[in-house]
Amino acid sequence: MTKILDGRAVAKAMRAETAAATERMVAAGARPPGLTTVLVGDDPASQLYVRSKVRASKRAGFRGENILMEASVSEREVLDVIDRLNADDAVDAMLVQLPLPDQIDREAVLERIDPAKDVDGFHPINVGRLWIDQPAPAPATAAGIIELLRRSEIPMSGADAVIVGRSAIVGKPLAGLLMRENATVTVCHSRTRDLEAVCRRADILVAAIGRAAFIGPEHVGEGAVVIDVGINRVSDRDVAERLFPGDAKRREQFETKGSIVVGDVDYMRVLGRASAITPVPGGVGPLTIAQLLANALEMSRQRQGLEA
Ligand code: GUN
Repeated sequence: MTKILDGRAVAKAMRAETAAATERMVAAGARPPGLTTVLVGDDPASQLYVRSKVRASKRAGFRGENILMEASVSEREVLDVIDRLNADDAVDAMLVQLPLPDQIDREAVLERIDPAKDVDGFHPINVGRLWIDQPAPAPATAAGIIELLRRSEIPMSGADAVIVGRSAIVGKPLAGLLMRENATVTVCHSRTRDLEAVCRRADILVAAIGRAAFIGPEHVGEGAVVIDVGINRVSDRDVAERLFPGDAKRREQFETKGSIVVGDVDYMRVLGRASAITPVPGGVGPLTIAQLLANALEMSRQRQGLEA
């Protein structure tokens, strides 16, 4: 039997723990964590993500706001906002939603954020700290995956972990975190020779490439744990039907929205081979926000000199 790893349930438990810790902290006389998001432009996916982050943050009892900036703003204006947030003592944690408009240098923005307030863990100082096992906020999707594996009692120590995708947001930090858990880690990418054979060796296979249903049964060893980070829109009706044949719920979604969301894994074909698998949606996605809140809580504690 394949176990479906319920990311929504794990995320819900994590958010409840963060909310309870926040309540205790405030009852003991501390400030609630302050988390501020910055959204530049009007990319619909980014708007949706930021709205979800702000809502979850309020529900956890945090303070903070979203700062919305027009798509045409200059880099200087974004840096000025970051400077102001760096100087604001009520702001414990911040993030600038990516991607940014072309006129703004992403690296300049990420490096401007005070590393102590960098809730995404994207500042080069925090990236470095992750790789030398110093305390630092870890990128939320990667750290959320570790939390999912831990809470699902999937052994990481000694496991062969194969990550497909080397992005700075997911693949690379997850490699560092899995190594910290004593997994043997392989990171694959578009130039990897015989990708299928490398993937088939994995006890834990992570797909984080952003290509709909790219990972098929030929990539999955019998009994592997499959973690699907992908969020891809499929707007071709035939492709949607081929990926989820006869699935009434997805068919209805397609009719109302003109597309469905699918992961990087060909879920229906991989299902039987895996011992456990994350669905899309409802797998890794919800963990990102839950982990982001956990990061912000920890950063607030540190800035206020409180014990965990
Ligand atoms: N865009 C896509 N994922 C992320 C993320 O984790 N953080 C930020 N800031 N932007 C993103």
